[in-house]
Amino acid sequence: EHVRGTGPRAEIGVIGGSGFYSFLDDVTEITVDTPYGEPSDSLFLGEIAGRSVAFLPRHGRKHHLPPHRINYRANLWALRSLGVRQVLGPCAVGGLREEYGPGTLLVPDQLVDRTKARAQTFYDGEALPDGSVPNVVHLTFADPYCPVGRKAAVAAARGRDWEPVDGGTLVVIEGPRFSTRAESRWHAGQGWSVVGMTGHPEAVLARELGLCYTSMTLVTDLDAGAETGEGVSHEEVLRVFAANIGRLRPVLFDAVAGLPETGARNCLCSTALNGLDTGITLP
Ligand code: ADE
Repeated sequence: EHVRGTGPRAEIGVIGGSGFYSFLDDVTEITVDTPYGEPSDSLFLGEIAGRSVAFLPRHGRKHHLPPHRINYRANLWALRSLGVRQVLGPCAVGGLREEYGPGTLLVPDQLVDRTKARAQTFYDGEALPDGSVPNVVHLTFADPYCPVGRKAAVAAARGRDWEPVDGGTLVVIEGPRFSTRAESRWHAGQGWSVVGMTGHPEAVLARELGLCYTSMTLVTDLDAGAETGEGVSHEEVLRVFAANIGRLRPVLFDAVAGLPETGARNCLCSTALNGLDTGITLP
């Protein structure tokens, strides 16, 4: 695959969630600008098992960006501009079933979008700074996550004796408030598994750039409909995520190591843009 530019490169991207602001040990920090504005923070480049990785803290390293203010388009564009073709997206979620309590790792295979006001396409007719205008593009999104990445994530967790839930539906709400009990019971009643605020539009924007995207959700709390207490607090989410970072990190390392080489990808995501004239040049 042709790779542009001569600057710093990375093949795999990791977008860290709440309570997850640093990931790699020996990092090179770089700032990347995009036609869509600034990513959430600098990108931190390093290596895992001989693979080049770019880490981006989704909410900014000081956690200053609420879910609806994250520039998802800039984040994905920036990663691709470095050469990234596969993305792992860990995030904190609430469990919608009692058996998915805090500390559950669930690798979803489906997504429900309940966000309301987020830019969720690169192909919206607006000209880019280079003058090119995107065409109308409707991508298949029946299976929102990379099946190969999901397998790598599940295997990585098992290898670290953390049996994950393999599959399930992540419902993404607009936030920043948590769900009411009625909303939460409704989500659970639909058979959905976990609820978060950042999984969308991250996944669809990755697909629009031909990137593989794997969501790895860490349950930090039981959502309001699944418990009888006061409901969720942000403090609780951050505390439980922080308490699990120590075991999530090695799972992510092994998941990175288990991903195929960029040129060996053969999943639906890698061919999502084949034969399409997007009208714009992807970075
Ligand atoms: N992130 C962590 N816990 C959550 C919850 N209960 N609802 C939405 N997003 C969350």
